[in-house]
Amino acid sequence: MLFEAFKKKKKDHEIDLSNLPRHIGVIMDGNGRWAKKRGLPRSAGHKAGAESLKKIVTEANELGVEYITVYAFSTENWKRPQAEVDYLMDLLMDYLINAEKTLAGENVRIRAIGSRAELSEEMRRQIKKTEELTKDRSGIVMNIALNYGGREELVHAARVIGAAVKNGGLEPESITEEDIEKSLYTAGQPDVDLLIRTSGEQRLSNFMLWQVSYAEMVFVNKLWPDFKPKDLIECIKIFQGRGRRFGGI
Ligand code: FPP
Repeated sequence: MLFEAFKKKKKDHEIDLSNLPRHIGVIMDGNGRWAKKRGLPRSAGHKAGAESLKKIVTEANELGVEYITVYAFSTENWKRPQAEVDYLMDLLMDYLINAEKTLAGENVRIRAIGSRAELSEEMRRQIKKTEELTKDRSGIVMNIALNYGGREELVHAARVIGAAVKNGGLEPESITEEDIEKSLYTAGQPDVDLLIRTSGEQRLSNFMLWQVSYAEMVFVNKLWPDFKPKDLIECIKIFQGRGRRFGGI
């Protein structure tokens, strides 16, 4: 970003750009309620939610946040009516396809985290393509949690480690936290510093169980499609007002 634009942002928002959360996690909740309030189908809420997401990622990137992980589809979301599942998958597909164009200016690197085996062949191919096309960019890393569950991720990690033990490369007694961290979908990325959940619900819902261990949690009463860049700024201000001790004093 140009220095003038940088100065303007700093002045506008009065947040400390030297103390940004490196990694923000977002549970984008409330699309259905947003639509219901307007007498619209739930799909309209998801569509508005996807628009909201684009603006938030752009803002986070412009501020200099390094990683953002968004909960787009959980391992439990398959229980929704088939039409809603199909609609969400279509939205995700569009998002991945358009990422090259729409997020190019912002230099966003896209990754998908979660179990891919249950996704359609077409979706798996598109994920690979989008990851490949965006991997050399220098901006924010956006992890799209897709068919993601925190417990499933830990099972996945246990399998990776179990295989290393079986192959004789690793002794069970010498397994470390680093070994687990390296076996997660987010291997090599920092823990989540700030977790935001919209819609007033105060739950983790199986989101990044390992990575949020020391995250500051901010629960926002707005529904996700109403969550604007200025609300992100507000959440970052709350984060900056908290004293993080990581178990120390
Ligand atoms: C929760 O709202 C939201 C979801 C399950 C899906 C989130 C998806 C998007 C924001 C759009 C698609 C994402 C991408 C990356 C293109 P809800 O449906 O549970 O709302 P409710 O609790 O009000 O019913």
